[in-house]
Amino acid sequence: MDSQFYDKVAKKFGSYHTDSSYISEYPEKDPEKVFKEKLLSLSDKNKNALDLGCADGRFTLSLAPHFKEIIAIDISEGMLSAAEKFQKKSKITNVFLKKVDADATGFADESFDVVWSRRGPTPYKEIYRLLKKGGNYIEIDIGEKDCQGIKEVFGKGQNYGDWKKESYLTKIKNEAQNVGFEAFYMKDFIYSEYYASYNDLDLFLQGVPIFEDFDSKKDKKLLETYERKFKKDKGILLERHRIVSIFGKIN
Ligand SMILES: C[S@@+](CC[C@H](N)C(=O)[O-])C[C@H]1O[C@@H](n2cnc3c(N)ncnc32)[C@H](O)[C@@H]1O
Repeated sequence: MDSQFYDKVAKKFGSYHTDSSYISEYPEKDPEKVFKEKLLSLSDKNKNALDLGCADGRFTLSLAPHFKEIIAIDISEGMLSAAEKFQKKSKITNVFLKKVDADATGFADESFDVVWSRRGPTPYKEIYRLLKKGGNYIEIDIGEKDCQGIKEVFGKGQNYGDWKKESYLTKIKNEAQNVGFEAFYMKDFIYSEYYASYNDLDLFLQGVPIFEDFDSKKDKKLLETYERKFKKDKGILLERHRIVSIFGKIN
């Protein structure tokens, strides 16, 4: 994916966030909380970290007090300038925002103690090269079943139809192990979001790449069909899927 979509979102909303109203229900735990807890357990004030695909940088900045230094990279200039604004407000000085492609960062071998990707790019070979021996890589990914129902109604969408193929967890495990990583933790999280109204779901879809070309007017009929099918007492249901993984560089 190029940076066009994220530049558009940053321009429209000033961040990687819309104010759509929804509630989440987790049969187990909130995967974002699990990811952050596990990332914090890997943090240390003596460690250098790398954030792959930092977007508006708010998550990165929340981690700053726990690391010596964080390099946060992204290819979207729009997102990076949103991140600069958040950083200025925060007065945090140990986060360094850079326009760098995660696939070929140009950083020296074994530069980082911890690397993370929070729904960002996951170039395993490059990550392995960049980690110090004994270092850790942690990611939270979108799973193959994420938003399956709405993609089926629209007949398209990000990674459409992948729910019929192999599990992403297995794919991630194989790809990471192939470059030398050892898998320490991997888990699927399936949960539900309920959007308060049609307008809230519409707004949400404008700010995420589920349908990169989502258009409130052109897609109205499809979204109304989805609303009819998935309207519950708690709101309009959206099925979510995340995968949290931790890998180690042993040798
Ligand atoms: C879903 S957003 C990540 C959200 C962010 N990590 C957070 O915690 O809020 C994905 C981000 O990855 C960036 N991205 C995609 N491919 C990239 C690449 N090859 N190198 C660097 N950044 C990339 C996009 O520009 C976008 O800002």
